Amino acid sequence: MNKKWWHSSVVYQVYPRSFMDSNDDGLGDIQGLISKLDYLEYLGIDVIWLCPVYESPDRDNGYDISDYYKIGQQAGTMEDFEELLKEANQRGIKIILDLVVNHTSDLHPWFIESRSSLDNPKRDYYIWRDNKGELPNDLEAIFSGSAWTLDEETDMYYFHLFTNNQPDLNWEHEDMRKDIYEMMNFWLDKGVAGFRMDVIDLIGKDVDQKITENGPKLHEYIKEMNEATFKGRDTLTVGETWGATVENAKLYSNPDNSELSMVFQFEHLGIDEIPNTDRWNLRPFEPRRLKRVMDHWQIELGNDGWNSLFWNNHDTPRIVSRWGNDKKYWKESAKLFGILLHFMKGTPYIYQGEEIGMINLDVESIKDVEDIQSRNMYYDYQAKGWSEERLMAAVNTKGRDSARRPMQWDASKNAGFTNVTPWLEVHPNYKVINVESQKGDKDSILELYRSMIQYRKQSELVVYGDYLAVSSSQDKVYAYKRTFDNEELIVITNISEEEVFETLDLSKYSNVIFQNYDDFKYSKEGFKLRPYEAVVLVTNSES
Ligand code: GLC
Repeated sequence: MNKKWWHSSVVYQVYPRSFMDSNDDGLGDIQGLISKLDYLEYLGIDVIWLCPVYESPDRDNGYDISDYYKIGQQAGTMEDFEELLKEANQRGIKIILDLVVNHTSDLHPWFIESRSSLDNPKRDYYIWRDNKGELPNDLEAIFSGSAWTLDEETDMYYFHLFTNNQPDLNWEHEDMRKDIYEMMNFWLDKGVAGFRMDVIDLIGKDVDQKITENGPKLHEYIKEMNEATFKGRDTLTVGETWGATVENAKLYSNPDNSELSMVFQFEHLGIDEIPNTDRWNLRPFEPRRLKRVMDHWQIELGNDGWNSLFWNNHDTPRIVSRWGNDKKYWKESAKLFGILLHFMKGTPYIYQGEEIGMINLDVESIKDVEDIQSRNMYYDYQAKGWSEERLMAAVNTKGRDSARRPMQWDASKNAGFTNVTPWLEVHPNYKVINVESQKGDKDSILELYRSMIQYRKQSELVVYGDYLAVSSSQDKVYAYKRTFDNEELIVITNISEEEVFETLDLSKYSNVIFQNYDDFKYSKEGFKLRPYEAVVLVTNSES
């Protein structure tokens, strides 16, 4: 496999609104991020994925862009952004930008023009259908309700897969595509190292055939975009593809470089959802399901593509609360998930706060919910007859606010995030869970993440080794091996609150390199795994 710089990199996702507020308006901003670059350098990450900082009316917190060429005033100015690039660069950190090109804001000048008249040159930059007295079809928006909204001005329907303030761009339109590529080149010329591509698997849609994901022209457009923009620039491009399968991930991330570096697949995060429903219809988490999905991706993608490794992002609840135990085994389970992921093959992504074990916060009423997706879902399912209890359980388990609460820096007011009331309430546990209290504490989650990041950088075994599934007699145990030349490591985890006895033969391993309890003893007969215990052993301490 041709080596790439991003094979051995670790990416850190920053949700700027909640990272650090520098100007006392309760919202995080670019200067705030700059002030925390030393921390990110300390953590050892190589790349920042910066969630949208463009001009936006913020109906969907920046995922509704009204000007692709401007930094939104909430986040700062273009000078701030240039300073960020320079300061990050000096610390060996690259920046990739969130690229939202499936849709724009309805306040984007293109849409304002598009909706103004039937013969406006920008009319077909968006997807319009005649008003025949009923909706053009029954396609639904991902954020609830119909995907069609009637626009009074020209009496036609426009299409939107998210809110009606986020009209979908018409990727069939060549001039529109060219405008997008020009904008991408503007940012690449400025020095960004690539893009995280928001819902990129939706751009090839065919609304008349009712195909939204993985549409017929999807790969053609991505190839064209590649040719017109990042080809030859040695970038990191990662597509957000909720519907990715191993088969199409091979197309997206084929090492021939004709499309993207890698994609985010979400199959593993769907294992606690009832199949063929949506994210709100829940079923219990079962470790064996996680193992099945992860083994599949790790083994089948092989060298025909590249994996992205992640548990959390700004759209998903925090893993330690979701599949761990954020009370009695908070530290153990936060560490377990870190260990389980960081020895897999692929590029790890850490979502802000994950490295200190930040947890979800449940709210009592929909009035306390900020997230537009949760709010829309609440009213939609309420109309379908769900009880208040079920609605709030869904919001608290799968809603997006928990991930978006302000970063917990220290024990001072508002967790050191801001001096004023933050846009979203800080988790009240910030006096206990914060960066300051974990820095330098060898037993902390933060220091574990830090040393795993360091380890990966110098280990060809972790970056390029083959992944081998390991079967266990225990349903709750997830173990795997990595092999490279004569070296081998094994990761063993007990994803449960029960103690289990495991009989895997560990005689060939000589050293424990990572663990979340103080000691680990094994014999020929086997070994005990305590609640959420995780351990990594290697055959050779020099690896
Ligand atoms: C992606 C983003 C999410 C956003 C949506 C619409 O899924 O991650 O935050 O709401 O796209 O842009």
